Parts: sequence; structure tokens; C-alpha cells
Amino acid sequence: MTNLLTGAAGFIGFHVAQRLLDQGERVVGVDNLNPYYSVVLKEDRLRQLLEHPNFSFHQVNIADRSAMQDAVGELKFTSIIHLAAQAGVRYSIENPFAYIEANLIGHMVILELARQQSALTHMVYASSSSVYGGNTKLPFSEEDRVDQPISLYAATKKSDELLSYSYAHLYGIPQTGLRFFTVYGPWGRPDMALWLFTEAILAGRPIKVFNHGDMHRDFTYVDDIVSGVLAARDNPPGADEGAGDAPTAPHRIYNIGNNHPEPLLRLIEILEDALGRKAARILEPMQPGDVKNTYADLTAIERDLGFRPTTTIAEGVPRFAAWFREYHKL
Ligand SMILES: NC(=O)c1ccc[n+]([C@@H]2O[C@H](COP(=O)([O-])OP(=O)(O)OC[C@H]3O[C@@H](n4cnc5c(N)ncnc54)[C@H](O)[C@@H]3O)[C@@H](O)[C@H]2O)c1
Repeated sequence: MTNLLTGAAGFIGFHVAQRLLDQGERVVGVDNLNPYYSVVLKEDRLRQLLEHPNFSFHQVNIADRSAMQDAVGELKFTSIIHLAAQAGVRYSIENPFAYIEANLIGHMVILELARQQSALTHMVYASSSSVYGGNTKLPFSEEDRVDQPISLYAATKKSDELLSYSYAHLYGIPQTGLRFFTVYGPWGRPDMALWLFTEAILAGRPIKVFNHGDMHRDFTYVDDIVSGVLAARDNPPGADEGAGDAPTAPHRIYNIGNNHPEPLLRLIEILEDALGRKAARILEPMQPGDVKNTYADLTAIERDLGFRPTTTIAEGVPRFAAWFREYHKL
């Protein structure tokens, strides 16, 4: 298999690339190494991938059509795993156009690229649990209405699902959208709570706990996510997909989470134990665009792809903490 992997220097992309390379597959990575968070961290991930002879890399903005065409337009891919995006809910208030560029125009450029690929078997792309917005029915199911996003980030991810559906219908490009639920693990993202808490606790600074700690998250360990991404990649939807009256399109959407929402305060306790230090806590109100609870219904992905997460936060959080200390020599 030759895979085009966008967001290869990102958190999830790096782990997906490693697994593909371990399986003996070829990976063409694309990433613009933007400074939304530490470029050094992205380069450190990339350096490890570049040691592998089956990995090649192009530093390019996916929203730049002609640059993408020049970089990878002539190459032949059997799969596309599209993870590059402007992530994060809170930053969409500060820099909305970063989301429009990477998540809407960038997604469109990848779809057009997919259209030119004659040997492509499947395109898997990242959506997000944030599309469920303020829905109160738990767990979140793929059948639920998701047309009331409460952040611009969520609006772009839902839009990606619609763009992909139309391209699956019009051009028969098999696609699967994965709604990731709060992914964490080694080489994780510096803008996410687990990283911010770990950094603050080790520096002896208080941690900010939003909504006064009254939040639940379906924290999902990155190795489980990678297994789900590859299970999806290996099971492209057929041309006759389409529920009820919906027009047929080889397109599916799955939740990919842990099916086990955890109170934020329990995450903090496990982290405190792993670091051997107590955190001073500053209780803050809810942040705009944030969601109180996330909880993935995994019935569909388990039924169709045999996906079941296996890592609890009691196992995964100490692994992250150990990696964080080693990486920063703390
Ligand atoms: N980590 C999570 O909890 C989570 C949850 C839901 C959805 N997601 C989605 O999963 C995907 C991967 O997330 P992640 O956590 O690895 O994030 P990440 O920010 O670590 O990785 C994304 C990568 O894409 C790159 N990128 C951004 N804009 C680009 C552009 N215009 N051109 C080329 N490269 C660009 C970034 O440099 C980064 O390396 C994203 O689509 C994200 O929205 C992640």
C-alpha cells in the first residue's frame, strides 16, 4: 500500500505513520509544520519518521492547490489518510480563518486530489466529536442530529463530512470520516488539557480547571485510535451504501472513542499519582465553544470494523506522564 498521509508531523499522524511503516507500507507524508504549537515538537516527530526508508515528506500547505499538485499530484496512492487540520476549539475564536483555510479549502484540495487518483481504494479523514456540540442525549450516536455546531471548529468538521459525502456520491470516491473523541498519549498536543496540566504541575504552577471540573470526556488512547484508523482504511464502504431514502454514496461516518466518559477530576487525580505531586487548582467557568460531556456510542464501528478500545486512562495517563518527563528531561 502507498499511503498519502496529511498531518504526518501532527500527533495522530505521527502515530499512524509509525504503525504503517512498521507494517511495511509506504507513507508519503504532508504537513506545513505551522506554528500553532511547538514546531520543534513537530520536527522531533518527523525526524523519527524520516529515519525510515519507506517514508518521504513534503512540507506543504494542503490549502495551496498548485503547491500540492507540484508536491504529490504526479504520485500514485492506494489510500489517503487525511488528518491535517487546524485543530482546537478555543483557538477558533482567536483565528477563525485558519480553520476555513486548513479545514475547508484544505479538505477540498484533498478531495480533488483523490478524484485524480485512479488506483485509490479509500480515503479516511478526521472529523471530530465536537460536531455533537451541545447535544444532551448520551452516548453520542452517528444517527444523532449534528447541525447545530457550537464552535467554528465543529462547523468546519461537519462541513468536511458534507463535502466528502458529495464527492463520494458524485465521483464514487470511497470515504470514511472518523469522529475522534479526545485523543491523548505520548507525543501528544501541547494545547490539550493533559499536556497543560502536566506542564503546570511539574512547574509547580496551579492548573486551570474549566466548568469548575464538572466535565466528562471520553479520553481515547492514541494506540487505540491508530488501530481504528487502520481498521477503517482496510474496510472501504461499497458503492451501494446509503441508508433509507438517502442517495447512495460509498461514504461512512464512525465515532471512534473509548465508550467510557471519565470525570475531568479523575483524570487529574490519576495524573497527580503518576507525577507524584498534587495540583493546585483554579476553578474557572466554562469556555465558549466547549462541550460539557462527550461519550461515544461505538456500536457501529464495533459492528462493522471490530473496533474496541483497550486502554484505560489508568494505563494511558501514566504512559503519557512518563513520556512527557523523558522528552523534557524533567
Ligand atoms: N487529538 C484529538 O483529540 C482530536 C479530536 C478530534 C479530532 N481530531 C482531528 O484529528 C486530526 C489530527 O489531530 P491531531 O491531534 O494529530 O492534531 P495536530 O495539530 O497535532 O496535527 C495536525 C497536523 O496538521 C498540520 N496542518 C495543519 N494545517 C495544515 C495545512 N494547511 N497544511 C498542511 N498541514 C497542516 C499541522 O502542522 C499538524 O502537524 C485533525 O484533523 C483534528 O482536527 C483530533
